[in-house]
Amino acid sequence: MTEQISTPGAFRMDRRTALAATGVAATALSAVACSSYGNTEKAAASTNDVRVRKQDGGTELAKTSEVPVGGGVIKGDTVITQATAGAFAGFSSTCTHLGCKVSEVSDGLIKCPCHGSKFNLDGTVAGGPAPRPLDARAVRVDGDSVVSG
Ligand code: FES
Repeated sequence: MTEQISTPGAFRMDRRTALAATGVAATALSAVACSSYGNTEKAAASTNDVRVRKQDGGTELAKTSEVPVGGGVIKGDTVITQATAGAFAGFSSTCTHLGCKVSEVSDGLIKCPCHGSKFNLDGTVAGGPAPRPLDARAVRVDGDSVVSG
């Protein structure tokens, strides 16, 4: 004997048919949700790729024009210097004294605001309590950009 399930209105179906229909609907919903999620993820990834990735895989840190000759800029956790025209170098922005972030590149020096350490544009200590040079970061020029790597 088949048990009948009543639904609002005049429509009637047995339990087995109702369960099968529910399963099909759930499967279809899952497929649409997964498909939709995948597309969103792919779109976001390609947007990020365009924004930060250069063709050969380096991450753009700055435009070369942003880095003054005889000076430098701080971009995130990287200090980029250009001691002489075309001689770009990269360093961690973490001061080697007690780990503050250096905050300024001026007068040919990279300066830490915490206890007065100063570093030359090649990362070596110029003054203050820092016990050693800033850690080097690999950077290179790619077109008009300074990129990591
Ligand atoms: S942490 Fe930079 S000088 Fe002390």
